[in-house]
Amino acid sequence: MDWGMANRLAKTIRPDGRCFYLAVDHGYFQGPTHCLENAGAAAHPLLKYVDAVFMPRGSVRASLNPQIDTPLILRVSGGNSMIGDDLSNEEVSVSTRDIVRLNAAAVGISVYVGSKYEHQTIMALSKLVDECMDIGVPVMAVTAVGREEEKKTARYLGLACRVCAEQGAAVVKTYYCEDFEKVVRGCPVPVVIAGGPRTEDDLGTLQFVYDGIQQGAIGVNLGRNIWQNDCPEGMARALQAVIHEKHTPKEAFQLFQDMKQAAKA
Ligand code: R5P
Repeated sequence: MDWGMANRLAKTIRPDGRCFYLAVDHGYFQGPTHCLENAGAAAHPLLKYVDAVFMPRGSVRASLNPQIDTPLILRVSGGNSMIGDDLSNEEVSVSTRDIVRLNAAAVGISVYVGSKYEHQTIMALSKLVDECMDIGVPVMAVTAVGREEEKKTARYLGLACRVCAEQGAAVVKTYYCEDFEKVVRGCPVPVVIAGGPRTEDDLGTLQFVYDGIQQGAIGVNLGRNIWQNDCPEGMARALQAVIHEKHTPKEAFQLFQDMKQAAKA
């Protein structure tokens, strides 16, 4: 691996082999999501707890302070929206020149295996990997299911992750599921867990992240359960403790509650 690629990967995967990515990319297809009306404002107080921020270029330029130390994972796919015909109709939407201009440490692209636009999105990943090899930038593939929640099984996600890895993704982001260890076992590159809609079960969020890591994930790319939380900083700190400091979910939940209490005082 060339030095530039290795250096960028080392910025987004810490020396302990783990990673915590803050997902604030939702606007690229969802519009002004609740609590993410200004993605930079939502992200800035949380950056001290995370290893990278996942954001599309519009919000980066409009709202992210260029003086931050936190590496940027640039969302580089799009072309769809929540109100369009088919969420899987996505393509690469950013040039390699802009990836360089924005000093991205990595890029992220969604791949819709088994969808109407499967071929288009797999080939988009493949082409992006080729182009990013030229500039030394690692690619994170996102196994996207659109509205098809029933796809979140080890059988489907294992297949989708393997397809993305074989096209050259450096890291694959997928959902936690039953028998998650099978997904990890079948994927030759590191796997990162995605989040999901906001739940009120904060201990449950810490638990599934802990379980996913026990089963082989190297970390998370999480959004709504952090910045839609009553205490976003408390949740970010608690997740950091699970991912990097070997806290159990209960220990981390205590940390979260202490910070929530302190914020109220
Ligand atoms: C998926 O590609 C989305 O854009 C998010 O990055 C991902 O779903 C993680 O965010 P959340 O934890 O809110 O689901």
